[in-house]
Amino acid sequence: MSRYLTYQRVSDLPKLVGKEVELRGWIADKTDKGRLYFLRFRDGSGFCQCVVFQPNVTPETFAAVREVTQESSVVLRGIVRQDARAPGGYEVDVREFRILQRAQGYPITPKEHGVEFLLEHRHLWLRSPRQHAIMRVRAAVIRAICDFLDSRGFVRIDAPILTASACEGTTTLFELEYFDLGKAYLSQSGQLYAEAAAMAHGRVYTLGPTFRAERSKTRRHLTEFWMVEPEAAFFDLEDDMDLAEDLVEYIVRYVLEHCEAELHTLGRDVRKLERVRRPFHRISYTEAVEIIRRKGVKLHRKLPDGGEVLEDFPWGEDFGAPQEEAIMEEFEKPCIIHRYPAAVKAFYMKRDPDNPELALAMDMLAPEGGGEIIGGSQREDDYDTLLQRLHEHNLPVEAFQWYLDLRRYGSVPHSGFGLGIERTVKWITGAQHIREVIPFPRMLYRIVP
Ligand code: 4AD
Ligand code: MG
Repeated sequence: MSRYLTYQRVSDLPKLVGKEVELRGWIADKTDKGRLYFLRFRDGSGFCQCVVFQPNVTPETFAAVREVTQESSVVLRGIVRQDARAPGGYEVDVREFRILQRAQGYPITPKEHGVEFLLEHRHLWLRSPRQHAIMRVRAAVIRAICDFLDSRGFVRIDAPILTASACEGTTTLFELEYFDLGKAYLSQSGQLYAEAAAMAHGRVYTLGPTFRAERSKTRRHLTEFWMVEPEAAFFDLEDDMDLAEDLVEYIVRYVLEHCEAELHTLGRDVRKLERVRRPFHRISYTEAVEIIRRKGVKLHRKLPDGGEVLEDFPWGEDFGAPQEEAIMEEFEKPCIIHRYPAAVKAFYMKRDPDNPELALAMDMLAPEGGGEIIGGSQREDDYDTLLQRLHEHNLPVEAFQWYLDLRRYGSVPHSGFGLGIERTVKWITGAQHIREVIPFPRMLYRIVP
């Protein structure tokens, strides 16, 4: 048997009632009752209560328990008991206990800490129950995405992170010098590469980190975030929206099924997640503008002198957080908004043949303040039109020659979208801020740890 299987983990305890186990982990907390100690033990797979009763152990073992501090690493042996009073339902009656390293002055104590302090100690904060639960949900969301797409014939294709061109506008590019070849950028999106791969494999997805030099300090923006981007040949906008709904429904059901304990730790109201079943809501941009106007939500327009005026929301503007919130007050399930004004969307989107002012674009907004979790579109598949768009957007045509090739050699209708992993995890966990749902957040004012 492999050596790492010779000791047990907290997650195995329900199967080991009455048996002696060896656990290796850390002490999250300790309560002293004189001849009795309660230890809150964690080993990464879960938390459990360990009880040390003086008459059951040697004087050396009891001395070690007396000395042990918060976050010391330990190895212990004991007997598993089922006990409804123990947090988690199981406890270990300790017989042997050894300290591996005695921690001193662990900075995160059970008292409340400010979020800046916690972010500075993110490398340690990850150990706390709430952060532990969020990272598990994050892992489950990614597992669900891969499960869903793999089982539906989408091939995973990894896109490069260093790129020579912009995908989502030139204002949010992180730039660097690339040897003698001039400027390179950190990828804003794997989409253009996914399009190439879709012409090779039909249905593909990219999954990886993407970068935006956003100067925004909102609860929804990171400068480095993860995105899954499915792309499919022969998909039109309707197919794209259907795929997006199927994927999000699958993710939420998967998390409900596999992360019950984590959602409980997070105090998440799961009834709201149970409602996330197809069909979702679907409205056009124009219908969304009607909702915004009916609710009297104004547009804050910045003036050249730095001032601001409030205006009735004009058709043609992109939505900001106040508009998205107003729309989503109407809905308990996610809502797809489709057919945005082409002027506010990316160069690669196909125009609506019924109204060339509109792009065949779609965004999915999540309820409960989740905001935009998906952005996608049908792609422009005509060579001449795409070339014209590159010019209109002042993009360097030379850098896009390979992309234009996809329209030169066997162009087909195709569509795809990007789902932000952190936006999705934030919504599903109910976290207040996106910085809590990525292990090491990169934001305007934070790159350490
Ligand atoms: O709407 P976006 O910019 O779309 C694209 O990048 C397309 N190329 C995707 C595609 O069609 N393949 O970004 C997609 C999603 C957003 O809906 C949001 O969930 C997330 O990525 N996102 C961010 N998440 C965190 N921080 C940021 N700064 C984000 N910008 C976008
Ligand atoms: Mg978007």
